[in-house]
Amino acid sequence: MSGRANEPNFASGAGFVARGQEETEAAGRDLAALVQPGDLILISGEVGAGKSTLVRAALRQLGVAGAIPSPTFTIGRLYEQPSQRMPVSHLDLYRLDGLGDEDPGLLAGYLGPDRAAFVEWPGGSAGELSEMATRVGRVAIDHIDSESRRIRIDPPA
Ligand SMILES: Nc1ncnc2c1ncn2[C@@H]1O[C@H](COP(=O)(O)OP(=O)(O)OP(=O)(O)O)[C@@H](O)[C@H]1O
Ligand SMILES: [Mg+2]
Repeated sequence: MSGRANEPNFASGAGFVARGQEETEAAGRDLAALVQPGDLILISGEVGAGKSTLVRAALRQLGVAGAIPSPTFTIGRLYEQPSQRMPVSHLDLYRLDGLGDEDPGLLAGYLGPDRAAFVEWPGGSAGELSEMATRVGRVAIDHIDSESRRIRIDPPA
């Protein structure tokens, strides 16, 4: 850990307050340091809470280089660069209300024992996703004001 005054306390259910985007990014890096292949990280929070901000920082920490565009207009993106500690995917299921009638193979390439996945707006798909994962972690981000967010992190276990 970096020794910041207000760093995430993973053991605390109350979470911590990230003041400014940089502190949310630092939390994403701290979480990524705990991530192993097979992990699924479910990320909840309203529009603009900072989910993508945290995920991008986590992906960078895992070794993803170059642009990390929002997956909003695709279901997800899989990053497999030689610089990475493991393959890692970033999904945004905002438009998917549970897998319901969708092709069950839709998510197959994004999760697996050799890769990690970060999922924004998991919604009704959280159960199905969890069955495809080795361990599941959770992040909840709540808006406090324009610059502050309350972040609760349950690391993968
Ligand atoms: N403490 C903070 N943590 C994260 N983002 C912050 C913070 N303070 C301000 N912001 C701003 O809030 C916005 C968060 O956007 P981001 O795309 O990460 O949200 P999101 O939760 O992924 O939204 P969506 O549901 O649309 O995917 C950014 O513009 C960022 O600069
Ligand atoms: Mg987002």
